[in-house]
Amino acid sequence: MVRVRRSGPLEGTVRVSGAKNSALKLMAAALLAPGRSVLHNVPRIADVTWMGELLERMGCTVVHEGATVSIDVPVDVVPEAPYELVERMRASIVVLGPLLGRLGEARVSVPGGDDFGHRPIDMHLKGLEELGATFTTSHGYIEARVDVLTGARVLLEFPSVGATENLLMASVLAKGTTVIDNAAREPEIADLASFLNRMGAVVAGAGTSTITVEGVERLDPVDYTVVADRIEAATYLAAVGIAGGEITIEGARADHMDMLLAKLGEMGIRVSPTADGLWVMAPQRLRSLDVSTLPYPGVATDYQPFVVAMLSVADGVGIVTENIFGGRFRTIDELLRMGADIRAEGHHVVIRGVEALSGAPVRAPDIRAGAALVVAGLAAEGETLVGDAHHVARGYEDLVGRLASLGADIAYA
Ligand code: EPU
Repeated sequence: MVRVRRSGPLEGTVRVSGAKNSALKLMAAALLAPGRSVLHNVPRIADVTWMGELLERMGCTVVHEGATVSIDVPVDVVPEAPYELVERMRASIVVLGPLLGRLGEARVSVPGGDDFGHRPIDMHLKGLEELGATFTTSHGYIEARVDVLTGARVLLEFPSVGATENLLMASVLAKGTTVIDNAAREPEIADLASFLNRMGAVVAGAGTSTITVEGVERLDPVDYTVVADRIEAATYLAAVGIAGGEITIEGARADHMDMLLAKLGEMGIRVSPTADGLWVMAPQRLRSLDVSTLPYPGVATDYQPFVVAMLSVADGVGIVTENIFGGRFRTIDELLRMGADIRAEGHHVVIRGVEALSGAPVRAPDIRAGAALVVAGLAAEGETLVGDAHHVARGYEDLVGRLASLGADIAYA
């Protein structure tokens, strides 16, 4: 459980870790090359530990020391992702692409729904089918097979992050050219492509809607540094937005957060890039505004719980529209317990800012919603106790310690 009391103004410097949503994919991509790949700037979080366990189950040796993870990949990888591991972390599905690319077969537990509701993987499978893979599903497992993966043009119905990543990782060892159209453009996709290129792949256009991959015969293991976590950076931006103050977020990449920073600017937060991060100054009270989530470069769905938390104490009325995950509004019921004035209608929420929230026991429903409640507690009179804090630990290295270092009144209880 995390205990938070009203805090602020915040001041000081905090450093963000490498991005969870890149590190997990790079770990999966390591499967593409036998030998030892080494990743730097990897956060110490539960999801990374779990991805390591999954790779170990496949025969790899994974060692996490400090911010470095080394992955020894054997020649004979066991191409299976079992239910008990996939069930606790949906992101495990990204081993499908590399397993197919390298071995031509995979047996992966079908990921279920989760806190955001129904989360299909139809686009992953359809895209891989276009490269020649065939799938059968039985007893909760997807069995995938292909003799020779062959490059093709794949047009994604929606720029899905996971589908783009699986296709990218499968196609680097395919025969011929693959073109992924309507690809996701998130910075983590570009990071994955640079990692693959460093291994010897030939990927162009990552970070744009059209990614072209020329298949190569083999890849080699490499050393690589994971891109900064823009969502962790957004968490500290929200903290200072809610509590006021002046902080520096080291390691954060302003160029990966353009749209969010523009919105925060309209709310009254001043942000300027420094040599190695962001300088941020927030007034005592933010102004409300309307925000819609969209695929990158739009305002990410992952920022949405933080935006809702900020608007719940801002001056005026704001409307937040969630366009990526229909079921991703689980912060709201908890914020209502803290005295927020929020009304949800389908995938819109109307938030009338209140002067202050009121500390209460709440539960973290998932990683980002949990972190948003912790941050909301900074503007709540009395004490906020955030239960199920293990969700937060899935995605944040030492959120409590880092917020405390900025002067927040926060501790584990
Ligand atoms: N979708 C489909 N079919 C598919 C794939 C996706 O209908 O085959 C839908 C999803 O249901 C959703 C939308 O497309 O409505 C976007 O899903 P996407 O595939 O882009 O998401 P993801 O790859 O499953 C990653 C992050 C999420 C982040 C989304 C933003 C990881 C491990 N997860 O998920 O991050 O919110 O992209 O699009 O990278 C988190 O870090 O806590 C987190 C949930």
